[in-house]
Amino acid sequence: MAMGIAFLNLFLLLLIFLSVSGNTDSPYHHHHHHHSLVQVKAALLAFKKSVLVDWEDDVHVCNFTRVLCNQQHHRVIQIDLSSSGLVAKMSPFLSNLTALQRLNLYDNQFFGIIPPEFSSLGHLQVLILNDNNFTGPLSPSIFSNCSQLLVIDLSLNYIRGHIPMEIGNCPSLWALNLYNNEFTGQLPAPLTNTTMQNIEAPA
Ligand SMILES: *[C@@H]1O[C@H](CO)[C@@H](O)[C@H](O)[C@H]1NC(C)=O
Ligand SMILES: *[C@@H]1O[C@H](CO)[C@@H](O)[C@H](O)[C@H]1NC(C)=O
Ligand SMILES: *[C@@H]1O[C@H](CO)[C@@H](O)[C@H](O)[C@H]1NC(C)=O
Ligand SMILES: *[C@@H]1O[C@H](CO)[C@@H](O)[C@H](O)[C@H]1NC(C)=O
Ligand SMILES: *[C@@H]1O[C@H](CO)[C@@H](O)[C@H](O)[C@H]1NC(C)=O
Repeated sequence: MAMGIAFLNLFLLLLIFLSVSGNTDSPYHHHHHHHSLVQVKAALLAFKKSVLVDWEDDVHVCNFTRVLCNQQHHRVIQIDLSSSGLVAKMSPFLSNLTALQRLNLYDNQFFGIIPPEFSSLGHLQVLILNDNNFTGPLSPSIFSNCSQLLVIDLSLNYIRGHIPMEIGNCPSLWALNLYNNEFTGQLPAPLTNTTMQNIEAPA
C-alpha cells in the first residue's frame, strides 16, 4: 500500500515535471539580458568548480550540457544534473540564476544545507533534490520567495529539524515530498490552506 502511494506519487511528480517542462518563459526586460547572462555564466562556472560537469568557458552558456535557456537564449531556465554521480558540497552560486524555473539534482551526493540564498530564485517552479546527502535544517528563507513554486522533492536526504511554517506561504505548491529525512515535529498547520493535492509527509 505504502509502496503504491510512493509510486503514484512519483508518477504524479513525473507528470508535473513533464507538463511544466513544456512551459515557456515569462517576459523579461531585454536591456538587461547580455549583462545578466555573463553573470549567470560566471555563477555556473563557479558552481562547476565544486562539481564535475563538462561546462567549458569557451562554450555559450545556453549550449552547456543539461542547461536549458529560454527561446530568446538570454536566460537560463532549467538545470538538470540528475543521476550524474556528482559528489559535492552544495554551493550558493546557483542562487545567481534568478530566472531559473526548474532545478533537478535528483540522485547525486550533494551535501551540506540547501543554501538560504536560494530565496533569490523567485521564478523557481520545480525543485527536485531527492536522493542526495543534504543535511538540515531547512532554511525558512527558501520559502520567502516561492510564488511560482509548484513542486518540491526533498525526500531521501538527511535534513533535520522542524519543517518551516513558511512552507505554507507558497500559494501554488502542488506536490511536496519530504519522506525519508530526519525531520522532527508536525507538518505545519498552514499547509492545510494551500491548494496542495499531493503531500508525502515524513513518517
Ligand atoms: C553569486 O552568488 C554568490 C553567493 O550568493 C556571490 O558571492 C557571488 O558573488 C555571485 N556572483 C557570481 C558571478 O557568482
Ligand atoms: C550551440 O551549438 C550549436 C551547434 O554546435 C551552434 O550551431 C549554435 O550556434 C550554438 N549556440 C550558441 C548560442 O552559441
Ligand atoms: C525574489 O526573487 C526575485 C526574482 O528572482 C528577486 O529579485 C528578489 O530579490 C527575491 N527576493 C528575496 C527576498 O530573495
Ligand atoms: C552519502 O550518503 C551515502 C549513503 O548514506 C553514503 O554512502 C555516502 O558516503 C554519502 N556521501 C557523502 C559525500 O557524504
Ligand atoms: C486557513 O485559512 C482560513 C481562512 O482564510 C483562516 O481562518 C485559518 O486561520 C487558516 N488556517 C491556518 C492553519 O492557517
